[in-house]
Amino acid sequence: MAKMRLDKFLSESSSYSRREIRLLVKTNRIIADGKCVKSPDEKVDENSVITVKGVLIPYRKYIYLMLNKPQGYLSATEDDHDPVVTELVPEELQHYKVFPVGRLDKDTEGLLLLTNDGQFDHALMSPRKEVKKRYFAILDAPAEKEDVEKFASGMDLGDFTAKSAVLEITEDPRKVFIEISEGKFHQVKRMCEKVGKNVLFLKRVAIGKLLLDNTLSPGQCRELTKEELELFS
Ligand code: URA
Repeated sequence: MAKMRLDKFLSESSSYSRREIRLLVKTNRIIADGKCVKSPDEKVDENSVITVKGVLIPYRKYIYLMLNKPQGYLSATEDDHDPVVTELVPEELQHYKVFPVGRLDKDTEGLLLLTNDGQFDHALMSPRKEVKKRYFAILDAPAEKEDVEKFASGMDLGDFTAKSAVLEITEDPRKVFIEISEGKFHQVKRMCEKVGKNVLFLKRVAIGKLLLDNTLSPGQCRELTKEELELFS
């Protein structure tokens, strides 16, 4: 098992800063595997039992969050004008420095994953993986049967031809579900426009087999469960 400095272990796994860790060491508040830590550069590993002021701090480098993105937020980590989704991460998880996996438009709501694991991001976003994304949309005109065929047959959108997509018309034909396996800029809106309808409301409800947790109100996030994370392996 690879060794690392105690201050690296703790700054990755908790919100303690390096300065605070130095102070905690000085005041004998950190115990590693039963022994009082005397220096922040003492070597530990992922399985070390570390307590700070008596509280166990398990090692954790990566975090995976499900956010119900509200409208009005950019899928970014910083912006000069608009609020960004990472501002919605609870204070105690801010030190993980997550970023959004892919993006939803500013006016789109729903399922957005946030992580600090670059490999997870890469695997999910890779066009070769063709991870399906499912959206609920409200249109300004009823969807028609012919539209289903147009979505399925791969639409020419000028700069690219969209892969075959699924359009499901609900009982109210202005309300539809759309499933795409790519994530091109404004793709759902552009596909709907191509069949003569404007999207009035758009919400992502699933990525692959992962469904948006309906108990999360817009703006709320929670960690993915182990089972949910395994859906992507
Ligand atoms: N397609 C869109 O047009 N917008 C989104 O936010 C996501 C998919």
